[in-house]
Amino acid sequence: MLSYRHAFHAGNFADVLKHLVQVRILRYLLQKEKPLLYLDTHAGAGDYKLGATPSGKAAEFESGIGRLWSRDDLPEIVADYVALVRRFNHSKKLTHYPGSPWLAQQLLRPVDRMVLHELHPADLAQLQETFRGDRRCRVRAEDGFAACLALLPPAERRGLVLLDPPYELKEDYQRVVDTLTGAYQRFATGTYALWYPVVERRRIDRLEKALSASGIRRILLLELGIAADRPGHGMTASGMVVINPPFSLATEMAPALDYLAQTLGVGHGHSRIVELVGE
Ligand SMILES: C[S@@+](CC[C@H](N)C(=O)[O-])C[C@H]1O[C@@H](n2cnc3c(N)ncnc32)[C@H](O)[C@@H]1O
Repeated sequence: MLSYRHAFHAGNFADVLKHLVQVRILRYLLQKEKPLLYLDTHAGAGDYKLGATPSGKAAEFESGIGRLWSRDDLPEIVADYVALVRRFNHSKKLTHYPGSPWLAQQLLRPVDRMVLHELHPADLAQLQETFRGDRRCRVRAEDGFAACLALLPPAERRGLVLLDPPYELKEDYQRVVDTLTGAYQRFATGTYALWYPVVERRRIDRLEKALSASGIRRILLLELGIAADRPGHGMTASGMVVINPPFSLATEMAPALDYLAQTLGVGHGHSRIVELVGE
């Protein structure tokens, strides 16, 4: 039984980092004319209405995209991402937040393909509705981890795989390592982007060790935190692990991460960029 609903978290600081990195990777890959595959293992609903929480507590987007919405000093790559979120909103007001599939759809060209996986029946129905009629796109009601292995390597031999599980099941921490290792064996030249939450730092230390020992080359980690590690107090940071990152990614993300740590972390922010494995 899946209880995780991304709608509660849409547009939070973790989505900001995830989608900024996703957009940077796609912009880079799309500089080449050759077609590519975008594969989303955990696609979500694709479209989230933002609003007040039933409890009256501040909604998570308010300390994420909400803090960037009216700024006029955004670093160029952050401005590019925020401009996409603006395109998704039909007025100047921030009322909706796009999911990773919509962001990909905006950037892909007619020659590219996208395959989206989602298991929650409500999110799946919304995803199917949003992407109906886009002939580049297939929505599949399948386990994204298994499907990812079955679909690689893609006919295009180029692509981005986004792995964004909810980690609702603790075995997801091991499944992401197994899936990335298997996927890399099938398609070593693909670009992979894995999102992770820092709820318990020990889990992330183990994840980093396992990936470093996996045999996978060229692994970059980018992390953004809004508070110091505090086990038992929810998500204080989150990161993206990118395999075969664009050569420019670390350099262009460094000032953007500093800016986001300051703006979203308000006095408690921190960030890091680490090359887990080199060439
Ligand atoms: C973090 S959300 C995805 C958000 C989305 N990638 C985005 O950035 O907009 C994770 C989603 O994975 C779905 N899910 C959970 N387990 C899954 C599985 N094994 N295969 C595919 N989807 C799954 C959940 O229902 C949820 O909608």
